[in-house]
Amino acid sequence: MSVDVVLGLQWGDEGKAKIVDNLAPRYDIVARFQGGANAGHTINVDGVKYVLHLIPSGFLYKDKVCVIGNGVVLDPIELQKEYTALTQSRREFGQLIISDSAHLILPTHKMIDQALEDLRKNKIGTTAKGIGPCYSDKAQRFGVTLKSYRDRSVNLTEVIEYQLRQLEGIYRDPHFMNDKDSFVEWDKRWKEWYAAVDWVLNNFKVTNTSQYLNQAIRDGKKILAEGAQGTMLDIDHGTYPHVTSSNCISGAVCTGLGISPKHINDIYGVFKAYCTRVGEGDFDGEISGSTAAYIAEKGREVGATTGRPRRIGWLSIRHLKQAIEINGVTKLVMTKVDVLNGLSRVGLVNLSSPIVAKSYIGWTDLQDVRFHRFIADVEIELDQQIALVSIGADRQSIIELTT
Ligand code: IMP
Repeated sequence: MSVDVVLGLQWGDEGKAKIVDNLAPRYDIVARFQGGANAGHTINVDGVKYVLHLIPSGFLYKDKVCVIGNGVVLDPIELQKEYTALTQSRREFGQLIISDSAHLILPTHKMIDQALEDLRKNKIGTTAKGIGPCYSDKAQRFGVTLKSYRDRSVNLTEVIEYQLRQLEGIYRDPHFMNDKDSFVEWDKRWKEWYAAVDWVLNNFKVTNTSQYLNQAIRDGKKILAEGAQGTMLDIDHGTYPHVTSSNCISGAVCTGLGISPKHINDIYGVFKAYCTRVGEGDFDGEISGSTAAYIAEKGREVGATTGRPRRIGWLSIRHLKQAIEINGVTKLVMTKVDVLNGLSRVGLVNLSSPIVAKSYIGWTDLQDVRFHRFIADVEIELDQQIALVSIGADRQSIIELTT
């Protein structure tokens, strides 16, 4: 079996990219299977910080092939920005291959995303990157894939007309275009978009990546599938409606890459030693005050995509257990445990009844027996051993606990 998976077990931002970056040398290909530029994947190498949104986290290795799969929604403008910024550094990067079935985010998708959020009383806290409207047009069969754009088989005039009708419906005003600031730059936005799609088509191999990956599997290549967001943000299994618009769980690897489940082997489930969430929605065990501020500052808990401060909470066992089950996690990875060093107390919430929360005396460093007691308790609660523990931002700061 040639495919392993790295995915998030909480509300995103678990530190998946660092794990992918650490594991990548063992693989030939790293492939993204869902989400889009709403993701913010941070990797620190030799004191340099790289933030990836659309490009898979194997990109920092020059001998890796990185695939953006059909399940990803691709913003050509964001990709151009991200790629240009990365390649300005002197580093050599991997090769990027993009699915010709990936759906394109249109300028109007971002406008609709924001307009819907403004309309809602119960806010989602969307990143407003156009992800939801793009997936929803895909389901409506009004989407634009890279292939349909390249082959000119999509009627863009009809698509834009449909976009306008959606916006008109949201604003309930046929004259909305005259009133909204966003329309001032309407032509400029589309011009920029067309140029960026052409740039994507001219600079990368845009192909049937399902066929490419299946051939790679036949050739004995090893693939690492990289998830974005996290299980609690999954559209079916997350804290709906405060979720993203894609499936972020292991099942989505097959649909988002076009490969069979029989090829999947290990599933690395990544979780932080505490919880964070960006945006609205239920968040049991949320904390505030000086402890939350300490964790937020030490863990640099600010959204890598939006710059919004993340909400902080204690580790929720119930959510984690559910996520482990749904994904079939074979290797548990706990991240950012060093962030909790130096706190006077550390909590665990949503433990098995009748105990629902537990408070631990904090530890000074990771040699401290109190830290080991905390880890042991988490493993007992989850009924699974932790395979890897990440103890710092840099690439090398990972301890292997079990194999
Ligand atoms: P959207 O996917 O941009 O529509 O956002 C929906 C919800 O998912 C919001 O609460 C976002 O903050 C959250 N979200 C989306 N992408 C990420 C991510 O990569 N990390 C953490 N939260 C995310």
